[in-house]
Amino acid sequence: MQCANEWSCISETGCDCTPFSSWAAVCTLAHILADTMTDSQTDGAATESPMEFYEKLTAQGEAVKALKTGKAPKEEIDVAVKLLLQLKLDYKRVSGQDYKAGCPPTDSPASGESVPAAAEDGDDLVDPWTVATSNAKGIDYEKLIVRFGSSKIEAELIERMERVTGQKAHRFLRRGIFFSHRRVQQPSPSALDMHQILDAYENKKSFYLYTGRGPSSEAMHMGHLIPFIFTKWLQDVFDIPLVIQLTDDEKYLWKDLTLEDCHRYAVENAKDIIACGFDVNKTFIFSDLDYMGMSSGFYRNVVKIQKHVTFNQVKGIFGFTDSDCIGKISFPAIQAAPSFSTSFPQIFNGRKDIQCLIPCAIDQDPYFRMTRDVAPRIGYPKPALLHSTFFPALQGAQTKMSASDPNSSIFLTDTAKQIKNKINKHAFSGGKDTVEEHRKHGGDADVDVSFMYLTFFLEDDEKLEQIRQDYTSGALLTGELKKCLIETLQPMITQHQERRKQVTDETVKQFMTPRKLDFHF
Ligand code: TYM
Repeated sequence: MQCANEWSCISETGCDCTPFSSWAAVCTLAHILADTMTDSQTDGAATESPMEFYEKLTAQGEAVKALKTGKAPKEEIDVAVKLLLQLKLDYKRVSGQDYKAGCPPTDSPASGESVPAAAEDGDDLVDPWTVATSNAKGIDYEKLIVRFGSSKIEAELIERMERVTGQKAHRFLRRGIFFSHRRVQQPSPSALDMHQILDAYENKKSFYLYTGRGPSSEAMHMGHLIPFIFTKWLQDVFDIPLVIQLTDDEKYLWKDLTLEDCHRYAVENAKDIIACGFDVNKTFIFSDLDYMGMSSGFYRNVVKIQKHVTFNQVKGIFGFTDSDCIGKISFPAIQAAPSFSTSFPQIFNGRKDIQCLIPCAIDQDPYFRMTRDVAPRIGYPKPALLHSTFFPALQGAQTKMSASDPNSSIFLTDTAKQIKNKINKHAFSGGKDTVEEHRKHGGDADVDVSFMYLTFFLEDDEKLEQIRQDYTSGALLTGELKKCLIETLQPMITQHQERRKQVTDETVKQFMTPRKLDFHF
């Protein structure tokens, strides 16, 4: 049966008809959240008080009640409930207390030890602005793959990657951290997935990498490192060009920041990105604010994309409404454009057939569903995607690490002492209440944030497995597990900071100057 829904192609489920309404509802929620989002949810400092959150929450609770009593459509109720749950999470973050109707916040400081107010039921919420689930183990990624219509990275794909490249798979692949990729049901020459990327590599056909960062603050956190660490590995393994977009324009449009601040953050963030070890001869980093006016290819592609996506479509994907500024509505075209090689004539010599691979966390997928839908209509290959899971907040895997709450995040600027304190004080533990109980029953590694962080950063597979077993059996205590994490992260961050210190303004300028890279096209 032919899908009547204009979004079937974008959902890429390959099914006859994927109802898009739930996604649209989630996106609408994203918008509502973005609209009502307080500074504490943005990357700026928290400015809204627990009492203000409490009042918002109470009002939202009333709104949900009214919708239910009035027998409003289920979709509308779902959106309102999800907003309520998100507000509960924020309230918990800001006040350190669970929300109770009729009980305003007290003055006690946030302990950060307990689990945030949990979402009750329904789908997890994942979009470019919000990640929230009620499950202490984190987002159900198996379900998300089905909902987003992407494919799981199976062992067979990882084995093929190892065979083709002659390299052991990165721990992010071995451990399912990069867990999903975009493939289409019926491969066509313009429809790429990771297998086709490997075919291209085997046939000595080049492709390029594209990833990015929205520079909303001076300091990046550890979650932001995940796609960059993996991209660096991919670049080393495949020896291909890389472009990194810094969306200073996006952050200006979404946040209460000046253009000057956003641009300055772009340059500061570029230093952290360069400190991940990228090769200046193979990497072009650009600020949208700068590059848009410099490139003969980039803006042309932005305009082509804008012509092929309607307002209805972006509303469906991102939840924009009539009251959003037009900059937001047209922004997705700007994040889409680097997926096409003609946006970089200085690198690809005007060729339009160089295929693109985008590593990112799965929150960015909506942009690239749109991109893949547009690509064949403007004569370009679809980009392939590799999606990662989220590096969780210190307080638990119900949300991703986000710069909004300094205590939920470990920043790349944190000192060794701050790292130690944050982990000891805030990292949610799957351990038991007393040593005796822990020794007897063991801990739960599946909900333990310190263990989760080790799965991202401890290289040694055997050691990680030993830690898991010891923690689960009760032989390893929470304090010992946290110590192991602290000893893993402290040198890692210190080394990052040392590399960052070596990045001069001149180095940044080199990376950010449009130029030919060390590849011939
Ligand atoms: P931004 O700045 O929110 O995030 C930058 C990159 O980090 C990923 N990320 C995370 N990954 C794992 N765990 C986390 N807790 C976590 N938080 C963020 C994001 O998925 C992203 O890959 N609009 C984008 C910037 C952008 C971009 C791109 C990203 C422009 N072009 C192409 C990826 C690919 C943004 O604001 O990302």
